[in-house]
Parts: sequence; structure tokens; C-alpha cells
Amino acid sequence: MTSYQAHYQTAMADPETFWLEQANKLPWFRTPTQALEQLSANRYRWFADGKLNCSYLALDQHVAAGRGGQTALIYDSPVTNTRQSYSYQQLLQQVQLCAGALQQLGVNKGDRVVIYMPMIPEAVIAMLAVARLGAIHSVVFGGFAAHELAVRIDDASPKVIISASCGIEVNKVIAYKPLLDKALAQAVHQPVATLIVQRTQLAAELKPGRDYDWQQTLANASSVEAVPVASDHPLYILYTSGTTGKPKGVVRDHGGYAVALNYSMSAIYNVQAGDVFFAASDVGWVVGHSYIVYGPLIAGCTSVLYEGKPVMTPDAGAFWRLCQQYKAKVLFAAPTAFRAIRKDDPEAQLLEQYDLSALHCIFMAGERLDPATYAWTLAKTAKPVIDHWWQTETGWPICANLMGIEALPVKPGSSSVPVPGYCIEVLDDAGKRLPANQQGNIAIKLPMPPGCLQTIWGNEARFEAGYLTSFPGYYSSGDGGYIDEEGYVFIMGRTDDVINVAGHRLSTGEMEEIIARHPAVAECCVIGIADALKGQLPFGLVMVKNGSVISPEQLEQELVAMVREDIGAVACFKQAKIVQKLPKTRSGKILRKVLREMADGQTPQVPSTIEDPTCLDEIRMHLP
Ligand code: COA
Ligand code: AMP
Repeated sequence: MTSYQAHYQTAMADPETFWLEQANKLPWFRTPTQALEQLSANRYRWFADGKLNCSYLALDQHVAAGRGGQTALIYDSPVTNTRQSYSYQQLLQQVQLCAGALQQLGVNKGDRVVIYMPMIPEAVIAMLAVARLGAIHSVVFGGFAAHELAVRIDDASPKVIISASCGIEVNKVIAYKPLLDKALAQAVHQPVATLIVQRTQLAAELKPGRDYDWQQTLANASSVEAVPVASDHPLYILYTSGTTGKPKGVVRDHGGYAVALNYSMSAIYNVQAGDVFFAASDVGWVVGHSYIVYGPLIAGCTSVLYEGKPVMTPDAGAFWRLCQQYKAKVLFAAPTAFRAIRKDDPEAQLLEQYDLSALHCIFMAGERLDPATYAWTLAKTAKPVIDHWWQTETGWPICANLMGIEALPVKPGSSSVPVPGYCIEVLDDAGKRLPANQQGNIAIKLPMPPGCLQTIWGNEARFEAGYLTSFPGYYSSGDGGYIDEEGYVFIMGRTDDVINVAGHRLSTGEMEEIIARHPAVAECCVIGIADALKGQLPFGLVMVKNGSVISPEQLEQELVAMVREDIGAVACFKQAKIVQKLPKTRSGKILRKVLREMADGQTPQVPSTIEDPTCLDEIRMHLP
């Protein structure tokens, strides 16, 4: 038996002992005496009688342990030419003041605070300050348009919104405050206040009585200590794309999350206190929550907050520069970032300028690590390259090569083996377990380990229907794939209307809802098509209404503008083609699965209930 197998079996055979042992590694305000509690047939909670606060774990505990002088956060921003370090003591001080400012604005335990910010230290400070009060943060990715922000504001009903005057993309300044104002004009719910970081690149206009300047407000605030909360008290809501236009607010607890992340830092990433962790993501995504903010800080590492791109800021050597400069032990990014680097610097000549001796391992997630990108990164860096699979819902990896337990041989195309705590099975559509190497629905047997979603904010029914009912006794992941005879898991893609564009999770269902509003559109369907750089791109197929006179080019242009306006530029929706017919069943249901398989270059399994199979020929002609 390998060490991984022994470790996995220990966790699965006696989860109670295993997870209590992990929990005991953290300084709780009240240490839990029980790990898992079953609430109903398919609902559980972790460490129910424990009390803690994730902000305390991320900051105070390290200062109390005498590590206050150690660097907690390094902000590196090539787009503003800024580099700034915060020790644990300094970060704690800022967070205490921000919590004080929020308290003055009326934020209390259980209140929601929406954070719509670029990759600046104040975003991290804001998250930890909200958590400190036992309030619940909901970070909205800065690349989302005003409409997306408005939808989230209405769902989370925040007391306060924290934002900044602008974000900085390659060669352009994005004014965030007007987007926030537009979102507030659209939203029904209104916060009592907004707190705005004024950046030197662009000042925002503040509305007296509603908008408060971050710097001034913090200057007048008093320090606030961490509020002890129950283990299952919500830490944050993070919205993610589902199959409709209404995003799902994944709710995460304090206790289970802290234990899972702390375990993952050593078991999966093989880092300890004092090590430097560089996750090149965004605080608006789950990777940012777990591995820019909470994971590295709870484990006492130094986290790198990078406001830049893998390329163009200024070049494809950016990641290597950061790894050298800060002696990062782990680099974590999406495969699309490495495809962008490879495109700009195929021979990795820029890499040769940097000393990567401190770098131990490169982790990738967010989308499948295609074997070509794996091979290139491995060949050029000569570092272990680890694909690992997870979702916003789980908050931490489901499958990984656990570098802190045992580095197993890598199989390109596989995200390796189940992480202890996760029992993964492949099921057919009827819920029957499939044998090795047979592709089906990836399901996780309940209970899931600590750290995974507790529910969907304000919508228990959606949680049950979306995840727990397709396969009773299991969490349905929405991903398809197979497990080989050695237990390696291969995630092959979504089985629903979710696509992954440059590591960003987007809903094709939502894009369809937007397109369907165009007066010339009778019916439509959006699917993901393969893209060499971004992994997938959305692609629209549209049937126009009889008598419509709009040209295909004009229609495409208008639909592209509508999606950009509603979702944002990150959707990368750039193609919409008119077709005579969409493939449907005789009962009128669009056969999206058939279209997805065609787009993936597979031979589609066309059901006998299809109304008119000849329409597939026309669609095939349009697909790239
Ligand atoms: N705020 C505002 N706008 C943003 C934004 C943000 N935070 N992030 C992206 N955008 C905009 C971009 O400016 C661009 O707009 P444009 O169409 O007007 O040019 C659009 O959204 C698409 O951006 P992006 O996906 O970043 O594409 P790109 O072509 O500029 O860069 C990559 C390509 C591969 C370099 C980039 O997609 C990338 O770094 N991907 C990695 C993503 C990642 O880390 N995901 C997290 C997964 S863990
Ligand atoms: P998100 O919730 O944004 O993290 O996106 C989660 C989705 O991204 C998963 O359901 C998968 O479809 C995909 N994904 C993430 N990591 C991987 C991976 N390592 N391999 C394959 N797909 C992945």
C-alpha cells in the first residue's frame, strides 16, 4: 500500500478521528468535541460545538505566536508599478480598523457585505474585516458588468458595499464606481453605505451620505477584535454560474473551511508557515478566496497578491519574475495562463532569465490541464506540474496529487486521485455505478468532507434540486469523466450548461436568456466550443423570427454587445450564427448534449426522439 492509500483509508475509515485531529491543529475559541453531525438524510455539519473566527486564524494567531513580523501579504502590481509588503502585524492592524469602520457603518454579525474590487490589498483587508465581525462577505469578480453585480446585490441584500474607484486591465483603466452606481440603480435592494477605495489612477465621485472614502473612514475608526462564531456560521457567499441567469450563492462555513484549508496547505501543497504561496487568480473566484486569502494566511504562509496578467504586463516572463523575486515555493494558476505564456514565448526564453530554485511545484486548476500544456510546462520548468480538480462548491480540491503525503506518478490528462475525505464514483444517468474507464457522471458520496458548501444562499430547494436529488446519497458534481483501473480520475468536461472560458466559469443558459431578449430572435442555444488559448469560448446558434430583416452580421454584432453589456467582457461572447433549425426532441426540447458533443468533435449520440436530424448538417457547417 502506498502512503497516499494508507492516508486516504485512515481518513475514510474513521473520519471522526481524522478530522478532529485536523481540527485540533487550529486555535479555536472553543475546541469542538465532535467532527461530523448528520442533520437529515443528506445534510451534515462539521464541528458543530466549536467556536472560532477565520479572521483570527488568518491573522491574530500568528501575531500571538510571535510571528507578527513575518510577511503575510505581498502586493505586486506591474499595472501600477507598485510593490508593497504587509507583515502579519500590519495586516492585522488594517483589518482591525476596517472592521471598526464597518461596525460604525452598522455592520453586525450575520449582515452581508458585498465586495466589488480589483486585486488590491484593500480587497483582502475587506474580506478579513467582514469575517472578523462575523458578518458574511460576498466578493463579486471585478470583470462582471453592472447587471451581474445588481443581481448579486439583490440576492445577498448587503448592508454595505465595498468597492474601489477603478481597476486596471492591460493598458486601460476600468472605472468601477460608475459600474457600482449603475448596479445600484438597477438593484431593488439598497445598502446603507458604500466604502470606496480611491485609487490614484482615477478618482470616483462620492455621493454624500451614502458613499464613504476608505482612507478617511479607516483613519477615524477604532480597532475591533474577532467575534467568536459557531463553526457552521457562514463566512461567505460566493456566487457561481449555474444553468440559468440566476447565479447560485454558495455558502461556506467558518469551521469546516478553516480545517479543510489548513489540512490542504500541508497535505496537498506541501507548504508550512513561512513558505511563500503564489496563486495567480483573482479574489473574485474561489481560488482567490481559498488560496490567496484564507488558506495561505491560516497556515502562516506569505501570500502573493498579483495585479497583472500572465502575459502583457509586461511580458510572458511575469510569473517567473514573481517566483524569483518572492521565492515562491508554490505557483498556482489556470492552464489558460500557461497556454498564454507558451503562445507568447514558445521556447520559454524569458524563463531562462530567472532563478526558479525556490519553486517546488506548479499546481493548475480551473479547467482541465490538457496534456500539451502539461508537457510544455514540465519540459520548460523541470518542476512537478500538478493538475487538481475542484469547484466553487467544494472550496478546496476534490482530486489532487498530494505532494505533502506522497508524490504519485503523474498521468497527463488526469487530476490524479481523490483527496482524503472525498469518495468519488462514476455513475450512469440512472445512478448505476460504472466500472473503471467508463465515462459517466462524476458523483461524490455523502457526506462530503469539511469545507464544502452548506447550501445555496436563501434557496435550500435549489441546493437540494441542483446537487442532491439526481443521485440520492451523492453530491452531483456536474462534471463528466471516468476513473481508470488505478483510481486516477479524469475530468472530461461539464455535463450541464456551464462552460469554462479562460478559467472563468460561465453559464450558457444565462447567455441564452440574454440573447432571447433580442426582438429578432425566435430561439437560441449557446454552447462551448474548444479554443486553443481560453479552453472554451461561447458560441451562439440562433433561429430568427419569420419576417425578420436583420442581416446575420448585424444580428451577431448586437447579440455580442448585449452579452458584453449584461455579463461583461470576460464572457468573451463573440460569435452567433443564424441557423434554420435547432435540433429538438419531438416534445420541443433543444438537444444541447448533442450540440456539445458535436462541438467537442465527438460523434454525437443522437436520440431517436430527434424531430429533424438533417438540421445537424447545417450546424456542423457553422462550427469551427
Ligand atoms: N476587471 C475588468 N475587466 C476585466 C477583468 C477585471 N478584473 N478581467 C478581465 N476583464 C476583461 C478584459 O479586459 C477583456 O476585455 P476586452 O474584451 O475589452 O479586451 C475581457 O475581460 C477578457 O479578459 P481575459 O479573459 O483576461 O482575456 P485576455 O485576452 O485579456 O487575456 C489570458 C487572456 C489568458 C491572459 C487571461 O484570460 C488570463 O490571465 N487567464 C487566467 C484567468 C484565471 O486566472 N482564472 C482564474 C482561475 S483559477
Ligand atoms: P469553478 O467553480 O469556477 O472553480 O469551476 C469549477 C469547474 O471547473 C469544474 O466543475 C470543472 O468543470 C472545471 N475544473 C476545475 N478544475 C478542473 C480540473 N483540474 N480538471 C478539469 N476540470 C476542472
